[in-house]
Amino acid sequence: MGTVIVIFGATGDLTARKLIPALYNNFRKKRLPERLSIIGFARKPFTDDSFRDKMKDAIAAFAPDAYDAQSWREFASRLFYQQGDFEGSESCNALSAKMNALESPFENCLYYLATAPEFYPRVIAGLADANMLKESDQNGYRRIIVEKPLGHDLQSAVTINHDFHRVMKENQIYRIDHYLGKETVQNLVVLRFGNAIFEPLWNRNYIDHVQISVAETVGVEHRAGFYDKTGALRDIFQNHLLQILTLIAMEPPVTSQADALRNEKVKVLTAMREIAKEHSTHATVRGQYEGYRAEPGVGANSTTETFAALRIFIDNWRWQGVPFYLRSGKMMKEKSSEITIQFRRPPTQILDMQAGRTELFTNRLSICIQPDEGIHLHFIAKVPDQGMQTRPVQMDFTFQDSFGEKAIPEAYERLLLDALNGDVSLFTRSDEIELAWSFIDGVCSGWESEYSPPLLGYKPHTWGPAEANDLLGRDGRWWIHECKVHHGSDPETDR
Ligand code: BG6
Repeated sequence: MGTVIVIFGATGDLTARKLIPALYNNFRKKRLPERLSIIGFARKPFTDDSFRDKMKDAIAAFAPDAYDAQSWREFASRLFYQQGDFEGSESCNALSAKMNALESPFENCLYYLATAPEFYPRVIAGLADANMLKESDQNGYRRIIVEKPLGHDLQSAVTINHDFHRVMKENQIYRIDHYLGKETVQNLVVLRFGNAIFEPLWNRNYIDHVQISVAETVGVEHRAGFYDKTGALRDIFQNHLLQILTLIAMEPPVTSQADALRNEKVKVLTAMREIAKEHSTHATVRGQYEGYRAEPGVGANSTTETFAALRIFIDNWRWQGVPFYLRSGKMMKEKSSEITIQFRRPPTQILDMQAGRTELFTNRLSICIQPDEGIHLHFIAKVPDQGMQTRPVQMDFTFQDSFGEKAIPEAYERLLLDALNGDVSLFTRSDEIELAWSFIDGVCSGWESEYSPPLLGYKPHTWGPAEANDLLGRDGRWWIHECKVHHGSDPETDR
């Protein structure tokens, strides 16, 4: 009995950049089912052979190190193409016929919706009408993977979830947030709950504040059609940033079961304090890089934010009063995704801190998601042979040093395998999505009100509008930027 993966929107960017390289790498590592066919489905005319050629080019462009002729030949023999749309039942019937012809009879089926989200309802309805989503004891699983952002606001996300639930059970739905597939993000759970030393400190008694940043050097690129309607809040905060926040803030799950983990994440999202409209000016910053409106496909008067920063509070016993500062932007100075856990100062200062900045120093745990994947612990040490002079130093862990050069696979590799193996832990449940939207909707309504912060311009390749520094500066804090490929003990702050 075989397995079929169908990729809807197979001629798009995601398939070429992420999905085919991830499937090919899994194939090379012998992690895919023995009997497997992968069918690309899209409107453009391709044959099986021309689709294979296109995917070969994709490997050359996006995963050149992975390529070897022998394994590619074997992998490519499992790739097929089906042209179609979802205007009527014909496409589904043709797809179903192809699936049955290839893997006759096929047992399991994974549908990847790599299309624009507006096509989800049509694809799902088409598959349901053709009875291609129904699971029974005899016919194996039927699963779908959908990309983020799921919906545009709470209302649309509820509608989409409702449409899904009419024809599928929750455990057939794999809502992807590729940040959850990153090794360094998965390691957050291991760091917090696989070690005994962090958890006692992981609360309002010892932590002053938390920062989570996702900075990119690229601009909108060729994605204006999507991005100009979406913006940083919906593209990065609603999903990647809030997901990381839940992993940092959640209570220890009682088991490693997917739902135990998801239940704890939901509790964090429930405890997040809504940013009241009248606090928008103080608790949020929105920016747009200079030149954005001249990018191809962007509206000349676009007010889409390409940068945002928020100050968030979580109203529960562990985190009451501890600010979480989140920021993300395109066209930033460096590409880096990182988390800073800033601990409190010692209650009294008995040492004579002579070395300039050390009087401001507090212990810090920097968790680098990318680049320089690793963790750095900062503390004060005595400078030898200099009286009682002190200096900040750091202890470093990097995945590369500990596990070797090729230790970090692409997030999609892991996520696709988990979906094939039926593990939903790294995918988001419908209630998580809706709670995250409810929070983001609150920020958006503040931005639409008379309390909206201004849309600030910022120069490309900087750290965003200077006002983002005031968000922390008003609280006597500053952004930390630690995660870049360097091995020194003098992290840059953005002060
Ligand atoms: C995607 C966003 O989810 O994440 C993109 O839609 C963004 O706008 C990308 O560029 C960033 O992902 P990564 O893995 O490069 O940090």
